[in-house]
Amino acid sequence: MDKFIIEKSGPLTGEVQVGGSKNACLPLMAAALLTDQPLVLENVPDLVDVRTMTQVLENLGVRVTREPGRILLDASRVLGYRAPYDLVRQMRASYYVLGPLIARNGRAEVSLPGGCAIGQRAIDLHLKGLSMLGADIAITRGYIYTRAGRLKGCRINLSGPFGSSVGATINVMLAAVLARGVTVIDAAAREPEIEDLAGMLSAMGAGIEGAGSGTIRIKGVDHLHGASYKVIPDRIETGTLAAAAAITGGDVLINGCRPEHLQAVLDVLAEAGARIETGPERIRITSQLPLRPFSLGTEPYPGFPTDLQAQFCALATQAEGTSRVTETIFENRFMHVPELIRLGARIQVIGNTVAIEGPVKLSSAPVMASDLRASAALVLAALVADGTSEINRIYHLDRGYDQLEVKLSRLGAKILRVSA
Ligand code: UD1
Repeated sequence: MDKFIIEKSGPLTGEVQVGGSKNACLPLMAAALLTDQPLVLENVPDLVDVRTMTQVLENLGVRVTREPGRILLDASRVLGYRAPYDLVRQMRASYYVLGPLIARNGRAEVSLPGGCAIGQRAIDLHLKGLSMLGADIAITRGYIYTRAGRLKGCRINLSGPFGSSVGATINVMLAAVLARGVTVIDAAAREPEIEDLAGMLSAMGAGIEGAGSGTIRIKGVDHLHGASYKVIPDRIETGTLAAAAAITGGDVLINGCRPEHLQAVLDVLAEAGARIETGPERIRITSQLPLRPFSLGTEPYPGFPTDLQAQFCALATQAEGTSRVTETIFENRFMHVPELIRLGARIQVIGNTVAIEGPVKLSSAPVMASDLRASAALVLAALVADGTSEINRIYHLDRGYDQLEVKLSRLGAKILRVSA
C-alpha cells in the first residue's frame, strides 16, 4: 500500500496545470452505454475511479481503449446488464450505469453500494426518478433489479432532505434522453458536472434545456449517436491546489481551470486574506501567513462544495483566530478532524460545525487517510507541519487526484510516494 512522506515545505511557488474533472468524467463514460456508436472523451484524468468505471463498462461488453488523456468507448454490443458488488463497493458512481442500461436495454441489475466513510448516502431519489419514468424496481439480496419497456417522460421532483442530488439528477438524465416524450426534472442539481453531461448528451443528439438551473427539460429521442467531447477541468483539484498555495503562504498560478466554477471557494480564500487574480482558464493565488479566520458552510452548487470542506479545515489551522466550518450535505464528514488533531490542530466539533483555532504550529505524525478528500486535507496540513509526516492509505487519494504529489513537488513541496 503506497504512502506519502511529506516534509515541511515552505511557500509553494510556480505554475501548475489542472486535470479533467473526475466527477464529470464518470457520468460521461456511463453515457457511452446509450449509443451503438463510438464516444471519444478528451482531457480524461488518470485516476483509480476512471479505471473502476472502465472495468464496470467492460464487464457489460463495452470496448474501452485508453490513451494518455483520452478514452474511446464503443458500446456497439452491450451484452451485460449487471454491475456486481465487487465493483460498486469500490466506487459508488458505478450506479451511473443504471439509467442508461434501463433506457437502452430495458434491464439492469446493480449492486446496492452500501454506506461509506462520509455517511449513509441513500439512493432513494435515483430509484424514485427511474420508477417514475416507468422502470419496475425490486431490491433483493443486496441488488437493485430493474426492468422496463420504453421509458416514458414525466415531471420528476428530485429534492431530498439534504437538497438536490447530483447522482440522482445524472441517473435520471441518462435514462430520460431515450424516453418517449418530455421529462422535466425539478429541484435538479446545478453542479457544473451536470452541465457538462448535458453538453455531451446534446452533442450525441439529445434534446436538453436548462442544465445548470434547478429545472431541466429533456425531450426524449429514439437514438443517440457517437460524439467527441472534452471533459471540464476539475474544480475540486483546482480548489485543493489553491488551498495548498494559501496554507504555505505561496504564490501559485493554476492553469487550465475554470474560475467561474469556484466563485464560492475564491470568496472564502479572499476572506482568509489571500490575493486572488483570475483570467481565462487561470487563477493566481498569493498568500501571506498567518491567514485571517473565515466561516463557511457547505451547500449544493453554487455554494461552497462539500468536497473541499476537509481541505479548508486544514487551511483554517493557519488562520489567526477562530474559523468555523459547517457541513450540511453529508452527516459524517469530519473523519479528518481526529487526524488533523494528531498533527496538533485545535479543533472542536459541535454538531455539524467545527471551530478551528489558529494559527497553530503543526508537528509531524503518522496519520491515516479515511476518504478521498480527507486525504487531501492531511497532505495540506503535512506541508506546514514541522518535521516529516507519513500519510498512510493514500489509495483513497489516488481515486480522485491525478499525480497530486508530482504537481505539488513541481511547486516546491517536499513530498514523496513510497510503495510498501
Ligand atoms: C456527488 C459527488 C461527490 C460530492 C457530492 C455532493 C460524484 C461521483 N460524486 O456525490 O463527490 O461530494 O455529489 O456534491 O459526482 N441523497 C439522498 N437520496 C439520494 C441521493 C442522495 O438522500 O437518492 C443525499 C445524500 O445522502 C447526500 C445528499 O443527498 O446527503 C447529496 O448527495 P448527492 O448529491 O447525491 O451526492 P453524490 O451524487 O453521491
